[in-house]
Amino acid sequence: MENPFKFGSIVDNEFFTDRVKETAYICNFLNSRNHLVLISPRRFGKSSLVLKAVKQANRKYIRLNLQKVTSISDFAAKLLTEVYNAHPWEKLKQQVMKFRVIPTISNNQVTGAIEIGFQPTHDQRVLLEDVFSLIENAHTEKERLVVILDEFQEIRAISPILEKMLRAIMQEQKHVNYILLGSQESMMTDIFENVKSPFYHFGELMRLQKLPRDEFEEYLETRFNPVFHKQSKELANQVLDYTACHPYYTQELASRMWQISVLTNVMSDIMQSAIREIVETHDLSYERIWLNFNRTDMWVLQRLAAQAELQIGEYRTSTIYSALKRLQHSGHVIYTDRYELEDPFFKAWILTKL
Ligand SMILES: Nc1ncnc2c1ncn2[C@@H]1O[C@H](COP(=O)(O)OP(=O)(O)OP(=O)(O)O)[C@@H](O)[C@H]1O
Ligand SMILES: [Mg+2]
Repeated sequence: MENPFKFGSIVDNEFFTDRVKETAYICNFLNSRNHLVLISPRRFGKSSLVLKAVKQANRKYIRLNLQKVTSISDFAAKLLTEVYNAHPWEKLKQQVMKFRVIPTISNNQVTGAIEIGFQPTHDQRVLLEDVFSLIENAHTEKERLVVILDEFQEIRAISPILEKMLRAIMQEQKHVNYILLGSQESMMTDIFENVKSPFYHFGELMRLQKLPRDEFEEYLETRFNPVFHKQSKELANQVLDYTACHPYYTQELASRMWQISVLTNVMSDIMQSAIREIVETHDLSYERIWLNFNRTDMWVLQRLAAQAELQIGEYRTSTIYSALKRLQHSGHVIYTDRYELEDPFFKAWILTKL
């Protein structure tokens, strides 16, 4: 029997649940000439949702994760590679020949993948301009390309001049719908909501929430049923209480419970056994993460893990607030209706270790 749960990468088909409204909304949105900005904490399902919607809308798309981009010329090269993979080369060849800096195209001997690069140049702007105008020219107003840029907040880390440069180029385009995804709430908000930012009001802002409880419960229950039978509904609810409906951690926990029961036939205390196993697996990395926090952060995390009051006079309000901002920025704390630890297993680790 194959494990019916999947976590850690993009999910589709039988691993994807709900998001019906969001999928329909994005599909429909792509009929307009506008751009979409999708924000949520890490691993809420942004990439999966966007890919599902774009496929459902039957639109041609390319996708690039800015976390993998190291410089402006690397950005231009990676984008060109994606365009190359999405189109017949014949269609692009003439355009590429007109580039001010001709790219090198080679075949990776090991992976067989096409690799495109640019010779170093002192004016990286021309590389970007040429690649973006190729994208524009290879499409039409009727058949716009969807360009998905994941972890868009990284734009600021790639180069301080990139944001302004990109905005100037992108606003001239008519044959593209951009979908910009990001998981750092504060930085994404600053990029798109700050009047002084080049991307101010560039697109419509959409915030993705956790999965709705009812649908997620049904998803878990149906998949638990072949192994947990009558216990399935109760277990599904216990899991969702524990993970607070976080898409990724829910799938991780459910997957581990399923695995334990299938491999060992153990049925009692199954969720606690799974939690223990997961926490143990991550023990070393949690330890490493923990040792990098300063004392205030450690204190705040411990209080949040124990669901204890923060304003008890131990630290000044402004100090606590700065720590929360810092921890949100690094992704360890998220704010939904209250501040909470992002990872329920890290929370369990903190509670048992400390
Ligand atoms: N609609 C869904 N139904 C079921 N599980 C989902 C759904 N969306 C996401 N998940 C779970 O969350 C995990 C992360 O999804 P995805 O990679 O799409 O999120 P993300 O927000 O793009 O993450 P990241 O912040 O790492 O880019 C998936 O591997 C899956 O386990
Ligand atoms: Mg993603």
